[in-house]
Amino acid sequence: MKVTRRRDPETLAALRERHGSRLVALRSDVTNAGQVAEAGRQATDVDLLFNNAGAFEPTELTGETIVDVARREMEVNYFGAPRMLRGFADTLSRRGGVIVHVGSAAGLSNVPLQPTYSASKAAQHSLTQPPARCWRPGA
Ligand SMILES: NC(=O)c1ccc[n+]([C@@H]2O[C@H](COP(=O)([O-])OP(=O)(O)OC[C@H]3O[C@@H](n4cnc5c(N)ncnc54)[C@H](OP(=O)(O)O)[C@@H]3O)[C@@H](O)[C@H]2O)c1
Repeated sequence: MKVTRRRDPETLAALRERHGSRLVALRSDVTNAGQVAEAGRQATDVDLLFNNAGAFEPTELTGETIVDVARREMEVNYFGAPRMLRGFADTLSRRGGVIVHVGSAAGLSNVPLQPTYSASKAAQHSLTQPPARCWRPGA
């Protein structure tokens, strides 16, 4: 079964038509720990957890809104990752499986026009390393 998460599952109507009951659409905003946990409880047979959620807002290093923008990007790009790990840890550790977080080259070297986005992707990149080391087969 394919389970797909969107903030608005109604946007998946066309996919649902194509795949019928083999596709289950769950509402899941990665900034909402309750929704992520509920998605984790409902999706009990996950083989691949693909975390594509990403947020980017143009900003300038000295702009007035930089702190607010940085916080919003962090909520999705960084804090979304541990929420997903936590929400799906039970099923993944019980059955095995793969977690993919979509990162960015901007997380490896800060892009001048995307300073806060780059920082959030760097934090996300760092957080993918412990599970990759601790949960790999034979670790
Ligand atoms: N575009 C690039 O050049 C580029 C380069 C490197 C890495 N990336 C990364 O690739 C991924 C996809 O980016 P994209 O370019 O395809 O951007 P996009 O079209 O803006 O897609 C962003 C995706 O993130 C989801 N999303 C945003 N906020 C969310 C939230 N709070 N909870 C759950 N889902 C949320 C959106 O879901 P909804 O459909 O529900 O809104 C959408 O599926 C991101 O992680 C991005 O950082 C992009």
